[in-house]
Amino acid sequence: MLRIDSLVAGYGRLEVLHGVSLAFDKHRIVAVLGANGAGKSTLCRAVAGLVQCRSGSIQFDGQAICRLSTSARVKLGIVQVPEGRQVFPRMTVRENLRLGAFVHGEPGPAEFESVFELFPILRDRRAQMAGLLSGGEQQMLAIARAMLSRPRLLVMDEPSQGLAPKAVEQVGEVIQQIVGRGVAVLLVEQNLVLAEMTAEYAHVIETGAIAAKGPMHEIISGQAIEQSYLGHG
Ligand SMILES: Nc1ncnc2c1ncn2[C@@H]1O[C@H](COP(=O)(O)OP(=O)(O)OP(=O)(O)O)[C@@H](O)[C@H]1O
Ligand SMILES: [Mg+2]
Repeated sequence: MLRIDSLVAGYGRLEVLHGVSLAFDKHRIVAVLGANGAGKSTLCRAVAGLVQCRSGSIQFDGQAICRLSTSARVKLGIVQVPEGRQVFPRMTVRENLRLGAFVHGEPGPAEFESVFELFPILRDRRAQMAGLLSGGEQQMLAIARAMLSRPRLLVMDEPSQGLAPKAVEQVGEVIQQIVGRGVAVLLVEQNLVLAEMTAEYAHVIETGAIAAKGPMHEIISGQAIEQSYLGHG
């Protein structure tokens, strides 16, 4: 599965990640928790191939992937659910889903059906414009679209962002079902509720470096998370 060693990445002159290391060992869901601007999205983009690795390495099942394009990574099974959902509002639910499958060609009815089993609401709304869905439904669509790319690792960038507690809970249930299908999840979150509901293991990222890591319950009750969110004062 995923292994990141001393990863350095950024934008132009700005170095954002200053040597991040993280590994999936026996865990199927690994959380990365951090405040605004900590570098969470940059980490997701580096794994997905949207931001270059400047040094360090990312391995997926033992294969170095830093030099691979985004689409090559999708073909290996690394699929991102981007921050802010990024659904196409003027396309239907079904058209949005089709785009998720493009690297593999046209999805067949069985493939749609397998995704609709996870998201029955999308089956009912499949002919509707995606922009008319609620925030929670749009998040479901973004996850469903990623599922049509046949992920082995889903990189989720703040899926709970802007959602009401009920919708956050639904996203959590869907994540558990996805993991039940054998998909690993890198869950990047600012909101602790979803991470606590789903992940067993967590890292705290603070200004581009891992400040703490450990079992979820220890991280939640530990000092690193408080300092990272509230500042060192
Ligand atoms: N495309 C970009 N170009 C230049 N700088 C960027 C870009 N995207 C992010 N940054 C900068 O990189 C740093 C980390 O941003 P990043 O988006 O990774 O943080 P984040 O933890 O995802 O924050 P948030 O919780 O707000 O989503 C910030 O200082 C940000 O301004
Ligand atoms: Mg972000």
